[in-house]
Amino acid sequence: MIGIWMLRISAVYMVIGLVLGLAMGISGDFLLSSVHAHLSLLGWTTMSITGFVYVLFPACCRSRLAALHCWGHNIGLPVMMASLTLYTLGHKSAEKAIGAGSTIVLLSLLVFTANLFLNGRTDPPQ
Ligand code: HEM
Ligand code: HEM
Repeated sequence: MIGIWMLRISAVYMVIGLVLGLAMGISGDFLLSSVHAHLSLLGWTTMSITGFVYVLFPACCRSRLAALHCWGHNIGLPVMMASLTLYTLGHKSAEKAIGAGSTIVLLSLLVFTANLFLNGRTDPPQ
């Protein structure tokens, strides 16, 4: 289930990233290019690939590490993206929140990596 949810959420990030990309293209203002890049790459690409891993490897999906990764990614990334947007728009006090959000995302992806090494195997045939 976690895999499916991560794929669904990643598609929402994809739509938000695409809308921002299109808005930048239309306006000719590329200030938020980094936000667009990481919404697309951490939100859509990375989250969907990790989601597929949980679909492919049920043993990874059943581990508590999967829930830890999923929550970490989905708490850290919105914090990282919102604060990066504020920072880019001139609110320099948002810097600490970017650090906090991105550290949570990084830690969650370390948990994902550990899970893949520990449980990344296909279930034996029934
Ligand atoms: C409707 C689709 C998209 C549009 C209209 C769009 C538009 C843009 C625009 C206008 C920029 C800024 C370019 C600049 O600063 O010169 C940009 C940068 C970028 N986009 Fe997109 N984008 C789209 C989809 C995607 C997708 C699907 C991804 C990744 C999965 C992506 C990844 C990136 C990255 C990584 C950058 C930063 C590139 C750099 O700084 O060198 N974009 N995009
Ligand atoms: C915790 C995770 C991450 C952090 C903290 C991070 C941080 C950064 C920073 C500080 C920059 C330079 C931004 C600038 O010069 O304006 C950058 C650029 C970039 N990052 Fe990341 N990154 C992360 C994850 C990723 C991932 C997973 C990908 C690809 C799958 C990626 C792809 C890129 C690309 C293509 C650029 C150049 C485009 C741009 O300037 O916005 N990053 N990243």
